[in-house]
Amino acid sequence: MSSTMPNNNMIVMGDVSGGGPAQMDLAELLATRLLVQGNSGSGKSHLLRRLLEQSARMVQQAIIDPEGDFVSLAEKFGHLVIDGAACSEMALHAAGERMRRHRASVVLNLEGLDADQQMKWAAAFLGGMFEAPREYWYPVLVVVDEAQLFAPAAAGEVSDEARRASLGAMTNLMCRGRKRGLAGIIATQRLAKLAKNVAAEASNFLMGRTFLDIDMARAADLLGMERRQAEAFRDLPRGTFVALGPAMCRRPVPVRVGAVETESRSAGPMLTPFEPPSAPVHELILAPVPVSETLARPRKAPVTPQPDLLSQLAAHGEAQAAVLQEEQPEESSEDQAEREARMNAILRDILADDETSFRAAAVLYQDFLVRCRIAGLGRNALDLKAFNRALATARSGVSEDMVASDDWQQAEALANALPEDLQSVFLFLARAAISRQACPSDAEIARVYGTASQGRARRLLEWLEDRNIIVLRADGMGRRVMTVIGPGWETLPGVPQG
Ligand SMILES: Nc1ncnc2c1ncn2[C@@H]1O[C@H](COP(=O)(O)OP(=O)(O)O)[C@@H](O)[C@H]1O
Ligand SMILES: [Mg+2]
Repeated sequence: MSSTMPNNNMIVMGDVSGGGPAQMDLAELLATRLLVQGNSGSGKSHLLRRLLEQSARMVQQAIIDPEGDFVSLAEKFGHLVIDGAACSEMALHAAGERMRRHRASVVLNLEGLDADQQMKWAAAFLGGMFEAPREYWYPVLVVVDEAQLFAPAAAGEVSDEARRASLGAMTNLMCRGRKRGLAGIIATQRLAKLAKNVAAEASNFLMGRTFLDIDMARAADLLGMERRQAEAFRDLPRGTFVALGPAMCRRPVPVRVGAVETESRSAGPMLTPFEPPSAPVHELILAPVPVSETLARPRKAPVTPQPDLLSQLAAHGEAQAAVLQEEQPEESSEDQAEREARMNAILRDILADDETSFRAAAVLYQDFLVRCRIAGLGRNALDLKAFNRALATARSGVSEDMVASDDWQQAEALANALPEDLQSVFLFLARAAISRQACPSDAEIARVYGTASQGRARRLLEWLEDRNIIVLRADGMGRRVMTVIGPGWETLPGVPQG
């Protein structure tokens, strides 16, 4: 951090202990990211504020702010403050993309939301930034305070869905953001609570006061120090951080972070009421999202086709084809067949993605619609009901031969009477019974339902039992057998925790 060649990418973070300005090279920082660690009260938020203030006029900024600590940057530097509590997930996704388009610096205030929502909201916003079209890949500092909330090392109280979304977004930011101009700057109280892959992608570190041995050990590893040297982190005063990394210095050096120009909210009663910025930027970024401009974008990698899935989906396409025919009577059957094939290919791509098994049908449907629209099929895409049926059939794992059987027709008829989200589970169970296979395990059922929660799977089974759709019984060896009431199809015994 000590004196280097004059360089107009340099900002001053404070003083190096023992004298001289502690400089940080912004251009280097954009390429190499930063991890800040220190116990609560060690001065992390202050440090981030110093960094943001010093660089505010040099580079665009986005701040994920779980405590509403950074809203005061708006007054002096014109950041747009987005109040997470007043936005939908979809609006935030759009805002993330638009802030890049319009090159506006943004504070996303997530104060007052519960942990689950904070994670989903941050994921939506980061996702929007990440997916902005290539022509808007200008550099942005993306600051995430209390990053362990968004990239936790272990599963906590929050839903799987929220955790997956948020962890995915943080991993994208830190691992794949650079190419897109996104430079992750993350701060955490506890290294041990932060997902390892997220922490590992930063090449610059600022380590503040740290009490717990496990965090100290991890900090020492990251800085390449002896673990006993890291004992010194225990005695660091507030506002002093040991710095290391290509944007700062080659060897660990203690740095005293300098003063800031704007007030922190945590500073107490000094805070003046916050006025949102004037209309233009606000409207550009937060205008309502037209329904047609929905979330997901297609993945780039083509997925290898799975032939039997295709024909299952094609079977469902027939009913749809009739509808399409009515809409466009002039269209030739070849056009129609080609369109159907393309739509099925889109569905197949979505389902072939392993991650997808854990996503809710409604989310997959959004993805499907966007992909159809991109392929020029938007107006003819399956409606949600038809999509759910196709999805349920595909997820049941039924074979091509069985689809044509009378039993399967009957299973589909029974499924039709169930709520849409349960149809895939029922068809999955029916398929196992009709083909005389073992009763599926809780984990398999959960996966078909689009969740990782086995407890949820057991509740689904109870629900089906309560309504006299299935009967479960134990075989005396810890396995269970499932029978579909009515047709009497019965599985072989299967281990519930298989
Ligand atoms: N370098 C510093 N100079 C002056 N005050 C500081 C400095 N670092 C932190 N503080 C003050 O100490 C308190 C705690 O700092 P904060 O940044 O909120 O800690 P953390 O985010 O790590 O919990 C705040 O009131 C802050 O203004
Ligand atoms: Mg803080």
